[in-house]
Amino acid sequence: MDEKVVLSLCEEIKTKFEGVDTLNKLNDLKQEYMGKKGIITEYQNGIKDAEDKKTYGMNLNKVRNTFDELYSAKLEELETLELNKKLESEKIDITLPSKKVRVGSKHPMTRIQEEFEDLFVSMGYDVYDGPEIETDENCFQKLNLPLGHPARDAQDTFYLENEYENYLLRSQTSTGQVRVMEANEDKGPIRVVCPGKVYRRDDDATHSHQFMQIEGLVIDENVSMADLKGTLEMFSKKILGEKTNVRFRPSYFPFTEPSVEVDVTCFKCGGKGCPLCKQTGWIEVLGAGMVHPNVLRMGGYDPEKYQGFAFGTGMDRFAMFKFGITDIRTIYGNDERFLSQFERKDD
Ligand code: PHE
Repeated sequence: MDEKVVLSLCEEIKTKFEGVDTLNKLNDLKQEYMGKKGIITEYQNGIKDAEDKKTYGMNLNKVRNTFDELYSAKLEELETLELNKKLESEKIDITLPSKKVRVGSKHPMTRIQEEFEDLFVSMGYDVYDGPEIETDENCFQKLNLPLGHPARDAQDTFYLENEYENYLLRSQTSTGQVRVMEANEDKGPIRVVCPGKVYRRDDDATHSHQFMQIEGLVIDENVSMADLKGTLEMFSKKILGEKTNVRFRPSYFPFTEPSVEVDVTCFKCGGKGCPLCKQTGWIEVLGAGMVHPNVLRMGGYDPEKYQGFAFGTGMDRFAMFKFGITDIRTIYGNDERFLSQFERKDD
């Protein structure tokens, strides 16, 4: 391989590289020169027959180097080109209108529950969440409603069958009273609210088989009916507005003595009288009373030392009043057309 061959080979290689405009063609060219049967490879094999191996080798290297340099330059050039082409075709048009993202919202009952919890937590209460499947003992017996007690009829309870015979779907969150008293090992003071779902065999516009209650229980030394009244007054004013008044009426619950039913000023007419309050100016919202000594005793508390008050209310009714919901069953229907009406930006 003499100088002349080197020059013409290099010239030839240069021209060939000029004609390459794709990575595929570049690859073909590499095969043509450097492949197993490539032109440069063949020259390389010919070295063993050369007379002056040193000059042959040096000349061959010149050709090789020319090829390698041109190859890397071309490779870089084509890769950049390819990348630019790709970027160009993937360009995002930011002026196109975007797809609407639908954001969910809190369920109206979640909203009410959080509002209640926040208020009671601010008054120093804990929040306890008990199970919805309960024993007869926790739902009735330990609340001073032994088997066969006539007051059980006031709650149309769902009982479970077969091997779960002793179980039922809790019909009231008063089960929370029993559980919290029992769990409180040191038998010291208690201040707790128990919000949650309860179940009864009801089904009309103001009664659903599933609804939500919140129970309150306070146990301490020197707790009186005045504390109960003050607490419920505060509660009503904070939840329904500062002008709300509270009225106690004597009532009966097996687990409280004395027991009261609690009315609040009608939030629609402010007490003047309207169809909602049946012209009375008052709306009944709560059951409450002083914890019955039997209930304290069964919970492990000494009624000579401790007193307490308890109250329970349906949170659905508050949701209905607050949001103007006329049929309680829509709350549990999971119809998006209903739920999307409660979307709020501040969630
Ligand atoms: N558990 C009662 C009910 O569901 C309400 C209540 C709770 C009454 C606590 C008194 C004390 O009707």
